Amino acid sequence: MSNKGTYYITTPIYYPSSNLHIGHTYCTVMADAMARFKRLQGYDVHFLTGTDEHGQKIQTKAQEAGVTPQEYVDEVVAGIKDLWKTMEISYDDFIRTTEPRHMERVQKIWKRMYDKGDIYKGAYEGLYCKECESFWTESQLVNGCCPDCGRPVEHASEEAYFFKLSNYADRILQLYDEHPEFLEPETRRNEMRNFINQGLEDLCVSRCTFDWGIPVPNDPKHVMYVWVDALSNYVTALGGPDDAEEYNKYWPADVHLVGKEIVRFHSIIWPAMLMSADLPLPKKVLGHGWLLLGGEKVSKSKAAKGMDVVDPVILIERYGIDALKYFLLREYTFGQDGNFTNEVMLKRINFDLANDLGNLLSRTVSMIEKYCGGVVPAATTHDEIDEDLKNIAVSAAAKVSEEMDKFAFNMALERIWTVVRRANKYIDEKAPWILAKDKSKKAELDTVMNHLAETLRIVSILIYPFMHTTSDKIRKQLGLWYADVVWEDAETFEMMYQEQVKKGEQIFPRLDVEKELEELTKIAQEEAKKKAAAATQDPVEKAILNSVPLELKDEIVYEDFDKMDFRVGTILKCEKHPKADKLLVSQVKMGTEVRQIISGVAENFTPEEMVGKKVVVLANLKPRMLRGMESYGMLLFAGDHGNYVITTDAPDGEVVN
Ligand code: MSP
Repeated sequence: MSNKGTYYITTPIYYPSSNLHIGHTYCTVMADAMARFKRLQGYDVHFLTGTDEHGQKIQTKAQEAGVTPQEYVDEVVAGIKDLWKTMEISYDDFIRTTEPRHMERVQKIWKRMYDKGDIYKGAYEGLYCKECESFWTESQLVNGCCPDCGRPVEHASEEAYFFKLSNYADRILQLYDEHPEFLEPETRRNEMRNFINQGLEDLCVSRCTFDWGIPVPNDPKHVMYVWVDALSNYVTALGGPDDAEEYNKYWPADVHLVGKEIVRFHSIIWPAMLMSADLPLPKKVLGHGWLLLGGEKVSKSKAAKGMDVVDPVILIERYGIDALKYFLLREYTFGQDGNFTNEVMLKRINFDLANDLGNLLSRTVSMIEKYCGGVVPAATTHDEIDEDLKNIAVSAAAKVSEEMDKFAFNMALERIWTVVRRANKYIDEKAPWILAKDKSKKAELDTVMNHLAETLRIVSILIYPFMHTTSDKIRKQLGLWYADVVWEDAETFEMMYQEQVKKGEQIFPRLDVEKELEELTKIAQEEAKKKAAAATQDPVEKAILNSVPLELKDEIVYEDFDKMDFRVGTILKCEKHPKADKLLVSQVKMGTEVRQIISGVAENFTPEEMVGKKVVVLANLKPRMLRGMESYGMLLFAGDHGNYVITTDAPDGEVVN
C-alpha cells in the first residue's frame, strides 16, 4: 500500500452537558467513514474528536446536580467515550478541554495573540441578569426580561479582554476569494461573506463572573471565552502551537467537519485567531446540515417530546451499528438538512440492507453451495450480460472515490448499490436454477457463480469504510477471511478462485416495520416521560410522569362491580374464634341489621382494637362456615395479610358505591 501523505480530520468537540443524540452521531459517523476511507487509500490519517468542557452552562448544570464541574463532565464524557466505543469510531485521539495538555497550550496561543497586540482590555457592556450572571442583547430578551429565568435585566458593564477580530475582516475575505475550497458548501461561504460585509466587531474573549474555564495568562481572575478555548483544540491536541512531532506532521488540518450553526466560529474566528498567532490555517472547513425532527433540529428538548427514538444506543441495540451508520450516510445529502424519522430509517434498512445486499449474499452463497459444492469456480465463458456486470463492478471504486472527494457519502453508497442491484438483476437474467438443469450449461453456470462471488468481493471492499463489520461478514461467507481488504483489489475482477464459501447468518434480518415502529414509539414515549420527570420541579407532575402502571387482575365491566353490595358497618363486639388462632369473630351493625362476620386477621389486631371501628363490608357474599361458626359477609382490609382495616366516617348501613 503506497503512503499518500497525511490526512488530518476533525469533528467538533461536543458539549458534555448531557448525552449525545443521533444528530451528534451523524457528524462523527461521517468523519469516521472518511477516516477509514482515507486509511484504505494509503493515507497516514489522524482523526481527532473530543469534548468542550468549560463555560458557564456546564458550571450551572453541575451546581444543579450538586457536584463539581469536573465531576459533572467526567461522568458525561465517560458516556460519550462509551458511545464511540460501541459505534466503533476509529478516532486516533480524544481531546478534553479540561486536560492540562490542552489548557497549557491554549494559554500559549493566547499569548501569541496578545504579544501581537491583538488582545486588549476593555469593558463589556450589555443587559445583565444578576441571577444568571449573563449578559444579553436587546433582541435576546423575552418580554424585556432574561430569556433564561424571566427576571428583569439591568444595564451593566464588566471588565473584559477583547480580540481585534475586526482587523482580520479583509484577510478572511481574501482567504475566501483565493481559496474558495477553504469553506464549503458555497452557500455557507456566501453567508459568511455577507456576515463579514455587515461589519465585524471585536470579540469579547474573557469573562470574570464565573471561573469554570482556562485562566487568562497573567490575569487569572478572567477565564477565556469558551470558543477561544474550544477552537484551539485542533492545534493543542497535536502538541501545538510549539514544535511537536504530531503537530509538525499533521497541522494544518485537511478538514474540520462541523455543523452549519458553528461554521461562523470555524471560518471567521478560528482563521483570525490563527492569523494573529502566526499559525497556518486549516485547509478546509466543511459545514454539514442538520438532522431534523418534524422540521426542527434534533435536540435534547425536541427528543423529550417523544416522537421518535433518537438515542443512538437504543437504535444500535435493536438494528446494529452498521445499519445505523449506513442509514445516516445514505439518507442525507451533505450540507443539507434532512428529516429523521424511525420509519424512514427502518424502510431504508429493510430495502437496501436486508433486501438488496443481504439477499444478494445469501442467494450467491447458497447457489455456490448447491451448484458448485461450495467452491467458487473459474469463469470460462462470457457474454454481454457478464461483461456488463463486470464493467459496472470494476468501475465503481473510481466513482466512489470521486464522490468521497466531494464528501458525498450518500452518492458514494448509491454507486455501490448500483453494483448490488445490478448483481441481483444479473441473477434474474441468468436464472442459474435453469442453467443447473442442463449439463451442457455447466460452464455458463460456473461463470455466473464466479461473477457473483467477484462482485460481492468488490462490494465488500467498497463498503469497508462505511460498514467494516458487514464487510468482514461478507468476506467470511465468501471464504476470503484470509485476505486483507485492499482498495485497489476492487478495480479488478479476476481474483477469486476455489475459495470455499460458507453460508452464515442473515447479515441484515428483515424487519417487521409496523411492529418495530410500535415498539420504538413506546420506547420514545417512555424516554420522553423520564426526561420530563427529571426536568420538572412540581412534585405532582413528577409523580404523574414517573407513574408506572400496576399489574392488575383481568379487567371487569361495571356490571361485575354492580353485583357486589358494600355497606358501612360498626363493630359492636369482637372475640377470638374458639377453634382457630388466626380468626376474629365480629358482630357488625349495618343500619338495622347486626351480623356475625369472621376475618383472618387475629395476628394483626386484638379484638379490643376492632371494637368500635367503622368498617366496609361486602354484605351480599354467600355465607360460609369457618371452623364451625357461620360468617355472613366480609370485612375489607388492605395489605397482603390484612394489615390495615378499611375504615370510613360514613354512618353505618350506608351503601358504598
Ligand atoms: N462545543 C461546540 C463545538 C466546538 S468545536 C471547536 C458545540 N457542541 S455541540 O455539542 O453543541 O454540537 C456539536 C456538533 O453537533 C455541532 O457540529 C452540531 O452541528 C452537531 N449537531 C447537534 N445537533 C445536530 C443535529 N440535529 N443534526 C446534525 N448535527 C447536529 O457546538
